Amino acid sequence: MSDDSCTSPAGARTAAVIPAAGRGVRLGPGAPKALRALGGTPMLIHAVRAMAASRAVSLVVVVAPPDGSPEVKSLLDAHALPDRTDFLVVPGGESRQESVKLGLDALPPDYDIVLVHDAARPLVPVDTVDAVIEAVRAGAPAVVPALPLADTVKEVEPAGTPGEPEPVVATPVRARLRAVQTPQGFDRATLIRAHETVTEDVTDDASMVEKLGKTVLLVPGHEEAFKVTRPLDLVLAEAVLARRRLNDGF
Ligand code: CTP
Ligand code: MG
Repeated sequence: MSDDSCTSPAGARTAAVIPAAGRGVRLGPGAPKALRALGGTPMLIHAVRAMAASRAVSLVVVVAPPDGSPEVKSLLDAHALPDRTDFLVVPGGESRQESVKLGLDALPPDYDIVLVHDAARPLVPVDTVDAVIEAVRAGAPAVVPALPLADTVKEVEPAGTPGEPEPVVATPVRARLRAVQTPQGFDRATLIRAHETVTEDVTDDASMVEKLGKTVLLVPGHEEAFKVTRPLDLVLAEAVLARRRLNDGF
């Protein structure tokens, strides 16, 4: 046996933490983003089903808007979900990082692999979820689905006022860049240590593991795992659902 504490046994149990406590400011006024409907079903329910669709996932922890736990619990009760999966709901915090930490605090001891999945990525296919879990089971401490970029990216000196012109500082080589998605998968102990150690603001969980000096592995992401951020993303999400319904019909 290896003495590497990051090596997860093949039979390791997997839990998914779904941060869903954000307001969705960029989507515009309305209910908290995770509670808005896509194809008539709350985005959060799509995200929960996407995690529970993996046979490896036996627990889903939903991190609800701070005062929204009762509403999220009744949504979970009102929608069909797999019997083999357990569900927990905990209230979230001010930042995504804080919300994920609150979700991790609620994890029972017997889970060795943890996925962290944005409620705002409701349409991730189960094959992507399984590929992430597989790579963690194979021994990677942190695994992230990612795609090459379509746009060239510029680093700028940010303008103080939105809309003002901004000078370019550098242009990273696009072929070396990847856009990362969720679910991000972790050896549980590594992710918990990262959340206890790293105090800087981050926008994803894997970057905390990078700050511990550990290797983060990328696996192929999926275009349907995009994040619903702005109003146009809702149009795309509805179109993806419509295409799935059409394909399921044949
Ligand atoms: N999130 C969270 N707790 C927070 C902030 C964000 O659980 N305090 C969650 C969101 O609910 C979302 C995920 O983190 O599922 C990714 O965040 P993002 O897409 O930025 O969602 P919001 O923060 O809700 O959107 P915005 O930044 O436009 O307000
Ligand atoms: Mg946000």
